[in-house]
Amino acid sequence: MSKDSPSLLTINYNNLTSDAVGAAGLSPEELASLKEPLTGALKDIQRRYKKGELPFLDLPADAGLIKDCKKLAKKGREKYQDIVVLGIGGSALGTSAIFTALRPLNHNRLSDKKRGWPRLWVADNIDPEGLTALLDGLDPKTTLFNVISKSGATAETMSQFMIAHNWLSRKVGLDSLAESFLVTTDPEGGVLRKIVSDLKLPSLPIPPLVGGRFSVLTAVGLAPLALAGVDIEGLMAGAQEAVIDGQKPYATNKAALIAGLNWLMTTQKARGSVVLTPYADSLARVADWFNQLWNESLGKGTKLDGSATIAGQTAIKALGATDQHSQLQLWMEGPEDKTIMFLGVEKTRVDLKIPSIFKEHEALNYLGGVNLSALLESELKGTARALTENGRPNLTLTLPNVSPRTVGYLLQTLEMATVISGVLYGVDPLDQPGVELGKKFTYGLMGRAGFGDFLDRYNQGLLAKKKYILS
Ligand code: PA5
Repeated sequence: MSKDSPSLLTINYNNLTSDAVGAAGLSPEELASLKEPLTGALKDIQRRYKKGELPFLDLPADAGLIKDCKKLAKKGREKYQDIVVLGIGGSALGTSAIFTALRPLNHNRLSDKKRGWPRLWVADNIDPEGLTALLDGLDPKTTLFNVISKSGATAETMSQFMIAHNWLSRKVGLDSLAESFLVTTDPEGGVLRKIVSDLKLPSLPIPPLVGGRFSVLTAVGLAPLALAGVDIEGLMAGAQEAVIDGQKPYATNKAALIAGLNWLMTTQKARGSVVLTPYADSLARVADWFNQLWNESLGKGTKLDGSATIAGQTAIKALGATDQHSQLQLWMEGPEDKTIMFLGVEKTRVDLKIPSIFKEHEALNYLGGVNLSALLESELKGTARALTENGRPNLTLTLPNVSPRTVGYLLQTLEMATVISGVLYGVDPLDQPGVELGKKFTYGLMGRAGFGDFLDRYNQGLLAKKKYILS
C-alpha cells in the first residue's frame, strides 16, 4: 500500500473488471450501467431521509449524545473495573468491532494503571459455560452490566439480565442494583423499559427508528465504548465525514460504489457471496459486524412492492493472513460464486522487525530485517494478484490507518452502502422478518404462553424425520 493518502477510504476495484479477470469481471458497459440505478437510489435515500425514515444518518452529528456518554464515562472510570455488555446482534457486534479496533488488543489484560479505563466484555451468547466463566472473573462491587435490547424482549439478553440480576442480588444485595445496571432500550416500549421504571434503574434510550444493526453510533455502542476509553468524538467525526461524502453524486460516492459493485457482481455475475477479509487483527470484528449488517439487511424474500424475490449477497468473514491458510484454496479454485473484498491498512500503529537471524538458511533470508507489516501487506497484494490471475474477482478497500476517524468513516460508509443496496435490490434493508420464525419455535419449546402451536409444529416435524437419525 503506497505512501500516505489523504483519503479516509480508498476503493481499488481494478481486479473486479473484465480487463483483469475476463468474463468473471465487469465490462466497461456494465460499470457504466450503474449510473441510472445508483443515481436513482441516492435520490430515493434523500427522499426517505427527508421524511425522517433514515435517522441513522443524523447520529454522527448528535453532539448531545457524545457529551452524555463522555460524562457517563468520566464517572464510570472512577467507579468500575469491568463493563459487561449484555446484548446480541446489533446490540453487541458494533461495540465489539469498534472496541477491538480502537483499544489496544490486550486492553482487558493490561494492569489497571496501564489500561486507565474499565475492562469491556461483550457477552453476546447464552452458552452457560461462557457466561459462568465471565461471571466468575468479575467483582460484583466494581462491575457495571450494560443491558442492551431495543425490543426489550430478546430471550438471550433477557435471560442474561435475569441471571446477572440474581448473581448481583446474592453478592451485593438488591439495594444497590441501580449502581450495577445501566439499561439501554427503547424510550417507551417493551418489558425492559417497564422493569427499568419499576426498579428505578439508570437507562439510556435507543432512537425508535434506528434498527439494531444501524445503532452502534447511538447509546448502544457509544456508552460502553466511552466507558472503555474509546475516543467517541473522533469516531463520530469520521462517521460524519462519511455522511457528508455520502451526498456526493454516484461516481464519487464510496458507499454507492461498494453497493453498486457488489450488486452487479451478484445479479450479473452470479457472485452470490462476498468475503470481507481485513488484514489487521484490530479489524477482525468489523467483518463480524459487517456479516450481520449485510446478511440481515439484504437477504429478503419480498420486495417493497410486495412481489416475491430472492435478494441479497451472503457476507462471509475472514481474516488475513490467517484465512489464507483455511479459505483461500476454495476462493481460488472452488465454486465461482464469490467476490473477495480485502480490507487493508496503509500504516499499522505498531510494527515489529523480523530479526536477521538464521542467515545460513537461504529460504529464510528474505525475511530478516523486514517489518512484519511489510510481510502482511505483501500477503494481501500477493493474494489479490493470485486470485486475479485465476480469474477470481476481488477488490481492495484501504484505510490509511486504524483510528477513531477512519473506523467511524468505514462503518458509516458500510451502513450507507447497505441502505443503497436495499434500494438496488428493491427490498427493505431495515427489517428482518426472517429472524422471527426461529424465535417463535424457541418460545414454543421453552413453554412461552401463546406459542403452543409452535411446539406442536416442532413435534410434528420430529415425527416425520425420525427414521433419518443416526445416534
Ligand atoms: O439488527 C437487528 O435488529 C437485530 O440483530 C437485533 O439487534 C438483535 O436481534 C437484538 O435485538 P434487541 O436489541 O431487540 O434485543
